Amino acid sequence: MGFRSKFENAEKALTFNDVLLLPGWTTLEPNEANVKSKVTRNMEVNIPFIASPMDTVTEAEMAIALAREGALGVLHRNCSAKEEVVMARSVKRAEAVIIRDVVKVNPDTTVEELLKLMEDHNIKGFPVVEAEDKLVGIVTWRDVRLAESNLKVKDVMTESVITGTEDTSLEEAMKVLHEHRIEKLPIVDDQRRVKGLITMKDISLKGTYQEAIRDEEGRLICAAAISPFDLPRAKALDRYVDILIIDVSHFHNKNCFEATKKILKEVNAEVIVGNIGTFQAAEDIITKLEGVAGLRVGIGSGSICSTSVVTRAGAPTLFATSQVADAVRQYGSDITVIADGGMRNPGDVAVAMAVGASCAMMGNVFAGCRESPGRLVAMEGRYYKEYYGMGSERARKKRYIQDRYNQPSKSISEGVEGWVPYRGPVKDIISEFTGGLKAAMGYVGASTIPEMWEKAKLALVTESGAKEAAPHDIMRPGPNRTL
Ligand code: XMP
Repeated sequence: MGFRSKFENAEKALTFNDVLLLPGWTTLEPNEANVKSKVTRNMEVNIPFIASPMDTVTEAEMAIALAREGALGVLHRNCSAKEEVVMARSVKRAEAVIIRDVVKVNPDTTVEELLKLMEDHNIKGFPVVEAEDKLVGIVTWRDVRLAESNLKVKDVMTESVITGTEDTSLEEAMKVLHEHRIEKLPIVDDQRRVKGLITMKDISLKGTYQEAIRDEEGRLICAAAISPFDLPRAKALDRYVDILIIDVSHFHNKNCFEATKKILKEVNAEVIVGNIGTFQAAEDIITKLEGVAGLRVGIGSGSICSTSVVTRAGAPTLFATSQVADAVRQYGSDITVIADGGMRNPGDVAVAMAVGASCAMMGNVFAGCRESPGRLVAMEGRYYKEYYGMGSERARKKRYIQDRYNQPSKSISEGVEGWVPYRGPVKDIISEFTGGLKAAMGYVGASTIPEMWEKAKLALVTESGAKEAAPHDIMRPGPNRTL
């Protein structure tokens, strides 16, 4: 085959701005569209948006806020395994009927250590236990706020603790908490060993978030990113999370496959792998990696990516999604396809759905929200939040993310650093994007996401067509949301 045929056989790597959804015959009003979707083989989300595992996008606060809205945030891995586990535990502890993963202290813990634990776990009260988790007291913020830091828990704790058992109903627990004006009810067995904890906070949250995605114990669904080469971290997180995402920039790689095989054998969580960008990569995963539950798709389209500039390698998210979704369909697989990178508005998400995505992962959009961990800065009277790529020099300095990108040279960065406009609380963005996605589904005439796969037709637009399709010939004020 001659070199010239490489041009003849070149794929058209189309991207969001190259296409429009063709309006189709519809019998449905946009608000009737159902955006519920699968995020992995066995797990559903009520809202098909996922926040990227990046340290300016998703830590516990974002993951909790999104799960409560029915969407998902993936905890980043640019930290120690211990820190990532702490984040996962706080997502799992944010809501529950009975907290099972109870943080306990012992009578000899110092007040200083206790205050640190309160800060680390964002908890204001702990059961005090002796050997074999036997309950001997309870200690709360009120007991320690004015105490000397070298005192011990046994000097300040309350010894007579009101407790419940596994048979205590939620209504009974509520009554007891109310009668005694207390916040926490340890659940103990007949040997007084701590088996769980019911809190006033959890009871009052119950029913607040109707759309939340929860596990069978009523806890929020939690997803976390891992390196394929860190089995201990995968196992440590697996105790808490429902979904693990193998997070590398180019997963279609022998070493990644080998390492992932080991992880798949050892964990119970659903495993999503990525990123990939071609039919061939999806085919290899489907045929060679048993047990994968989802594919994260798109290389080099992210708003902070410089991969394609630096290396000229990439697979734009829209193109990649269609390739991977075709492979999944051809093999009759039920692995999900998650489009990742480059989506700026609900229309981009709708187009990704049109070519087979089940969910859309976004970094830029969520980085601007109140719940993201990035710094908030004011510049020339406007608010912005810090946002940088995980392959940027800034992210790689933290060292934990080093293996996401190839490292032939230390001087090569595959991401950039900057700021995004502040967008306010994430629930507003979710509602804006959900409304937009439903409107797009209305134009297509699709009442569900699988119907989008079947019914949506695309038109190719020229560069001038793309310009015309956006607002033009008008001066507009820029975004300036208030805090
Ligand atoms: P958006 O466009 O939503 O994209 O900001 C987020 C996605 O971009 C990927 N990502 C990177 N890609 N260099 C890259 O080439 C980077 O430094 C980088 N950081 C994140 C990632 O897939 C994310 O979900």
